Amino acid sequence: MTGQSTVPRYSLTMIRLHWLTFLLVVAAYIFMEFREIFPRNTPGREFMKATHYSLGLTILGLTLARLIIKVSGEPAPAITPAPAAWQHTAAKIGHALIYIFLIAMPFIGWATLSTEGDAVIFYGLEIPSLLGPDKILSGRLEELHELGGQIGYVLLGGHALLAILHHAVFKDTSLIRMMPKKAG
Ligand code: HEM
Ligand code: HEM
Repeated sequence: MTGQSTVPRYSLTMIRLHWLTFLLVVAAYIFMEFREIFPRNTPGREFMKATHYSLGLTILGLTLARLIIKVSGEPAPAITPAPAAWQHTAAKIGHALIYIFLIAMPFIGWATLSTEGDAVIFYGLEIPSLLGPDKILSGRLEELHELGGQIGYVLLGGHALLAILHHAVFKDTSLIRMMPKKAG
């Protein structure tokens, strides 16, 4: 394997955005999955949900920023030893699905609250509703958002597992490329 200091990496901006998004997604899941530790209609429960909404909208903003950087031409650094062509294609499809997830989930959540007739609050600031009140649509969107949350576990769990597999078993540089260089 190539010496770690000479491995071509993603830019520091892309690396920071990746790991910040990772932390925010984990936190968004935790705040929603553990909301039931507080009874319904208590300030604790409302805080958990409000934090989930704000974190989710932050993920949307960061993902859009990341896509802009990506399409404006930052190439993915090469992996050594190079994986087979089909693995590149599979990784591209997998990453595209993750981007779709990171954009679709916040929009579906935002639309769920809007159709419910609830104000959508982003860190204390009310933002516009995406759609008008519609209880039936709201129920459907909520189910879709819940299903998306379950798909996310498989998608992101598989993604993390493959990254570790590449590092520990195939012993290539794909994970190191997503790590900041050690100082010095
Ligand atoms: C990547 C971002 C997001 C992820 C991964 C995510 C994931 C989840 C998960 C796992 C649940 C629990 C579903 C269940 O009950 O089993 C949930 C519920 C919910 N989320 Fe999200 N979400 C995201 C963003 C958002 C955003 C931005 C909003 C709104 C602005 C939102 C609004 C909701 C709503 C309304 C619920 C229903 C539960 C309730 O309020 O009691 N989500 N989300
Ligand atoms: C919430 C969790 C995560 C999300 C949303 C996420 C998202 C993404 C996305 C969208 C890319 C594509 C980057 C590009 O545009 O080229 C990517 C690449 C990558 N991720 Fe993650 N990731 C997560 C967790 C992890 C974890 C836990 C690991 C390591 C164990 C990891 C390792 C990597 C690596 C090595 C790449 C580069 C892969 C390649 O270019 O072939 N990710 N990630």
